[in-house]
This record gives sequence, C-alpha cells and structure tokens, in this order.
Amino acid sequence: MCGIVGYIGTQQAAPLLLEGLTRLEHRGYDSAGVAVVGGSGVRVAKQAGRVRDLSEGLPKRFGGKIGIGHTRWATHGPANDVNAHPHSDEAGRVAVVHNGIIDNASALRAELADAGVTLSSDTDTEVLAHLVARSDADTLEKRVAEALGRIEGTYGVAVVHADFPDRIVVARNGSPLIVGVGAQEMYVASDLAAVIRYTTTVAHLDDGEMATVTAGGFTTYRLGASGLAATDRRAKEVDVDPESYDAGDHESFMHKELMEQPARAEAVLRGRLDERFGTGHLGGLNLDARELRAIRRVKILGCGSAYYVGQMGASLIEELARIPADAEAASEFRYRNPIIEPDTLYVAVSQSGETIDTLLAVQEVHRKGGRVIGLVNVVGSAIAREVDGGIYLHAGPEVAVASTKALTNMYLAFAMLAVQLGRVRDLSIADGKRLIEGLTAIPGQIGEVLATEDALAEIAHELAAAESLFFVGRVRGFPVAREGAQKFKEISYRHAEAYQTSELKHGPLALISTEVPTVAVVPDDELVERNVAALHEIAARGGPLTVVTHASVDLGDLQGAVRRIDVPKSERELDPILLTIPLQVLSYHAALSLGHDIDKPRNLAKSVTVE
Ligand code: G6P
Repeated sequence: MCGIVGYIGTQQAAPLLLEGLTRLEHRGYDSAGVAVVGGSGVRVAKQAGRVRDLSEGLPKRFGGKIGIGHTRWATHGPANDVNAHPHSDEAGRVAVVHNGIIDNASALRAELADAGVTLSSDTDTEVLAHLVARSDADTLEKRVAEALGRIEGTYGVAVVHADFPDRIVVARNGSPLIVGVGAQEMYVASDLAAVIRYTTTVAHLDDGEMATVTAGGFTTYRLGASGLAATDRRAKEVDVDPESYDAGDHESFMHKELMEQPARAEAVLRGRLDERFGTGHLGGLNLDARELRAIRRVKILGCGSAYYVGQMGASLIEELARIPADAEAASEFRYRNPIIEPDTLYVAVSQSGETIDTLLAVQEVHRKGGRVIGLVNVVGSAIAREVDGGIYLHAGPEVAVASTKALTNMYLAFAMLAVQLGRVRDLSIADGKRLIEGLTAIPGQIGEVLATEDALAEIAHELAAAESLFFVGRVRGFPVAREGAQKFKEISYRHAEAYQTSELKHGPLALISTEVPTVAVVPDDELVERNVAALHEIAARGGPLTVVTHASVDLGDLQGAVRRIDVPKSERELDPILLTIPLQVLSYHAALSLGHDIDKPRNLAKSVTVE
C-alpha cells in the first residue's frame, strides 16, 4: 500500500516519475506527489486525487534529473493536498516519501514542536523530513540513518536533499524497496511494476538495509547501532515479461485477470501433478513424507480473499487428508496469544506476500517455534522470504485490487497440498488419481465458465440494482459464498452478506423480501436436497434467487422462478473453485454497470502493508 518511485539520470525526472506512479496506483490512490532536485533546489508538487490530476496540475517548468514520487493510501490524517507525500522540512531542502507506519510519530511530533519546528501536515512521515533536515552529520546517508534510528515502526523510504544533489538515499524496514539499474540512470521503486518498462536488472533491499543511488550505480549498507556497514548487494536480471504488467486490449486489469485464469491455472499445476501415484509433487514445501505424516493439525492464515480461500483449503484438507484444519483471519491471530503446537502446519496465504497482518502472524508462529509454509504469488516478497517453504502461485502480476486469478491459484495450490497430505495417509491411489484427473481438467472448465460472460453480465445488471444482497452456501459452498460476497461488496459497493444457507431460518430470513436478492451456491453434492429446500423458503417470501449450480441439479417447480447459472461439474471436492468463477464475473459486471472504477475500488488498496 502506497507506492514509491524515484529516478536519477540523464532524462527529465518528472514524466518518468508520473509514469511510474500510474503503474503503482493500485497500491494507494487517494493522493500523489513528486519532488525533483534541480538548479533551484528541491521542488515539490502534490495533491489529493489521482496521478492524472497531479499530472494535469504540474507546472510546465518542473525541471530536474533527480526525483522521487509517491501515491498514497491514507493512514495518518485525511487524504488532502497537505498530507500527500513528499514531505519536506520548513526550509524545503529535504523531501521524503515513505511507505509504512511510524509508531512513535506522536512523541516525535511533540518533540519537534517543542524544539520550535512548525509541522504542516497530520502525517507520521513528516517527522522524518524534519529529523533529516536537523541532522548535521557530514553525509546524507548518516543523516538519514540518524533519523531512522529515532523512529519505531516500518518503512520503505526515499530521500533527496538540496545539499546532496547527486543522490537518492533509500532504506527498507518492513516495506519493499528495489533499485533498478539502467544505462547512466537508476530507478528506485516499491514495486517492480513501476520500473519494468525501463529495466529488468534490479536489486531487492533487505530489511535494515540502506542504499545510495547515483546516476552511475548504487551502494548498499546495513543500518546498525554502530553506524553503516557496507553490504554486497548485487542487481540481478528478473525473469518477467513487461507485457504482463499491461491490461492490453481489456478495459480493465480485472477483466484481463479474469480471462487469464485458464492459462494461469495451468501454470500453477504444471509439473506438480504426479499422475502415476495420484498425488501432488510439491518440492518447495521442504517437507519429506515422514514430516508430512507427522502433521496433526493445519492452521491457515490470510486476510480478505486469501482468508476465504483459506477456508476452502481447510475444507479440502479435512476431507482429503482427514487432518483437522481451519482458517483464521491473520489480522486477528497474533492478538489472542495463539497456542502454537509443534505438530501443527501453519499455512500463510497471500497474493502480494506483503500484507503486514499476515507477515506478523507468520512471525508470531516463528517466534513460538512453529513451522510455516506460504502460498504466495510474488516471488521474493517479504512473506515468501520469511516462511520455511511453500508453493509459489505463478499467477503473474495481479494489479486489480479485487483478487481473481491469484485466488484461483491459491485454491489449486491447496488442492494439491490436500491430495499430497492425503496420499501420505489414507487417501487411496484411486481417489488420488481421480482428483489429479479432476485438477487437470479445471483450467479448461474455468474457460467454459468464462465463455458464458454475456449471460452472466445480464444477471449482474439485475443484481446491481439491489441495495442489499445475500450470498449463501453450505459446508463446501459457504466459503464460496463468503468470497462471492467479498468480491461483490469490494467493487460494487453494495451490501452483500454471506450466510450459511442452513442458518437463514435462524435469523436473516427476516430480511428476505422482493427487494433483497439471494445468490445461492448449490452444488450437486450430498446436501443438494437440503439446499433446494432452503431455496423454497426464500422463494416463498418473495426473495429473488440466482442459483449457481450444476446442470444435473433438479430445481423442481422453482425452475421457472430463478436465474440459474450452471457450471461444469468437477470432482465433488474440487467443485468450489468452479462455483467461484461465475461469482467473480457477476461482481465485475455489476460494478461495470454501476460505472465504478473497477481496478481501484474506493477506500481500498492492493497490498495492505500497515496494521
Ligand atoms: C487487501 C485487498 C484484498 C486482499 C487482501 C489480502 O485487503 O483489498 O482484496 O484479499 O488485501 O491480500 P494478499 O496480498 O495478502 O493476498
């Protein structure tokens, strides 16, 4: 959350910074700003709103070949011009952009005010600019290190200073920062997306590391109590296709990411299915068969969609491996002093690998001696580096805030994990093979669902008219309903509430009316009759029904009264993912018909790096 970009080289910085910020906007988009170092010192332009507003308002002469920029998701203080980054000292000689949170900001603000400093914003970041400006150390690196030594909290930070006009100093502690290498020019960024068009040679800083970036190269140091000790970080070539960061012909990233799902699903399964023994082949787990057998419980941790897919994963693991498993919101986990058991396998699930709540949950498990594996999309991200092993999701860059292809691959990763855990226990080879065959067919079946987009769009337009909706399901279908409701509310801003179908009659049925539609998840499984009975209870109260189901399900006399969405049948354990796909498409088209900014829903951000 929040994006940082920086440039130093032979070209004018401002246009490159604005381009970089546009590519980072999914990380935070309530305000943006840039600072450049030119002949007349440091100049800052910043304002509330989107990067395009900043770009339109930028003075014609905003020259300088060194600069930093930021796109913000507000934490301290509202999203207004003053609180936008970069932040400066009173004399305007320093500019700072920062991701993360300074926990002791109030104390530092009070201390600076006592010393006669006038603070101009409500932010935590501003203190950094003043602390750097007030240092009289002989190098910018020492001044920044001194300032960072005063703060408690997390940061990815970039600093420019009028007195040191040949460099950008950056540092990282808990919030990602990379340095990109060009020809006589260098870039800094919080995310590869900002620089991938200009360079694929990058160095990822570690926590506690600082770098001096000049037009000719970079040097790195470890920040420590006894000063700055040089480190030997080298830039490496990253193996990514810059095209994968573009929306191409699609009207939004979410649409592109929805449609990519068959190909990305194949990518996560590739090389990981053992057809002969009917099992998964997940080398990255770093667990041998004996260790897998010793697992007595599985605890899954994630936030938002990653939490809901974790519930789907827990149900797969219980069914296939008969190991007690559950999912918990990572944001709650460490605050209840969790009991960490040695024979429990902890699984952290995160697309970005940067979600601070999930990262802190992993650290809590590690602190207490537990073992954690990760289901992570972004290679080399903080969570990927912290865990003891895991499964990379190979979904490719996901830019839309609402997760689609990463979520699908999380599910498929859980399915492979569950089969592998099952096969070292009592899951038979025949069942293993049945599930591996089922998994192999899923990418094509996802394609079949996506091919019905037009029909789904029509249903979505009708659903979008409702102020409030229910999404219901039972057992395997309940996390599907939860994720369906999450997606719908995230981007359509409608009140979408998920409920167990079985629990409706114990309360929420009071809300059912002709004005409140229900989207019901009704797979053809052992609960189908009970599910259909509940649909009758909704219909009897005039509640409009959309039923996501299988062609084999007989809805009897309800048939004419409901909107029906049939998805291809998989193995019953694997049905949830195919039931999830149409719900993604419904949300997308509901938001589209309401005219919302689909990729950047209000108040949200793609990776939430603050608690
Ligand atoms: C944010 C996003 C959600 C996402 C969650 C977890 O809250 O708005 O859409 O599901 O973070 O993100 P992660 O990167 O950890 O999967």
